[in-house]
Amino acid sequence: MLAFVVSVRPEDVEVASDALWGLGVVAVEERATADGGVELWTSLGDTDPTTIEWPAQWPWRLVEVDERVADTWREFAEPIVVGPDLVVRPAWVPYDAPPGTTVLHIEPGSTFGMGDHPTTILSLRALRRLVTPGCTVLDVGCGSGVLAIGACVFGAASAVGIDIAPAAVPTTRANAAANGVAQRLTVSTTLLGDVTGTFDVVAANILAPTLVALAPDLRRVVAPGGALVVSGILAAAHAHVLDALAPLHVVATDELDGWVAVTLR
Ligand SMILES: C[S@@+](CC[C@H](N)C(=O)[O-])C[C@H]1O[C@@H](n2cnc3c(N)ncnc32)[C@H](O)[C@@H]1O
Repeated sequence: MLAFVVSVRPEDVEVASDALWGLGVVAVEERATADGGVELWTSLGDTDPTTIEWPAQWPWRLVEVDERVADTWREFAEPIVVGPDLVVRPAWVPYDAPPGTTVLHIEPGSTFGMGDHPTTILSLRALRRLVTPGCTVLDVGCGSGVLAIGACVFGAASAVGIDIAPAAVPTTRANAAANGVAQRLTVSTTLLGDVTGTFDVVAANILAPTLVALAPDLRRVVAPGGALVVSGILAAAHAHVLDALAPLHVVATDELDGWVAVTLR
């Protein structure tokens, strides 16, 4: 498999790592280089790096690596406590759920969305509040399907997942089946601009530049009286995303580890 390797200055490690986590990667390794710099090693799964908006000041290259080495993060994966009664379980990790706990079983494969990134946790928390029995949900950038699947488990009548990464389709389908919601979830690589109709709840956990680019279509697919949850954005720098989404207005902002999920209506 191919590793996505980014070269940064030591003072940029944190913000560049955040940018990688914002893409939904499942692991980032820091390696010091002989010239005093740092390389960040990660995997973008099946995503073509030329299709992401990666800041030009951090040059990247692709390096062929042994898949078994790249998968060592799996040994350290643990159930993710999203809320007092909501847990995302990596599908290969045994877990005895306390009574009354809702458990989402997720195998990310090569897609994004293990469930452990703050933006995924925040989005799940928002969806838990917003999803009412029988509502319809659109998950833009579904990755592993974790948000769309969560919405179905929370009671949505149906959910649609879309992602530009082809691997998201079979992975989301498999995860939907593993969580018993396959009948209510459809997933495809349909572009948001080609999605017709409206949805009671729309979730988009994608980096800020993409949210801004998608803003007109995000507004269009929210049903009258419906809600939009955007995440993948930093607490310190997301006003421009909200500006792009006006006249939708903020009704809630949830923050975790410097990231936010904003609910708009
Ligand atoms: C941060 S991951 C979120 C994955 C999952 N929804 C979660 O919350 O963990 C962002 C996802 O958006 C997808 N994506 C990026 N740009 C997109 C676009 N313009 N339209 C649809 N999906 C996009 C990526 O392929 C990736 O799977």
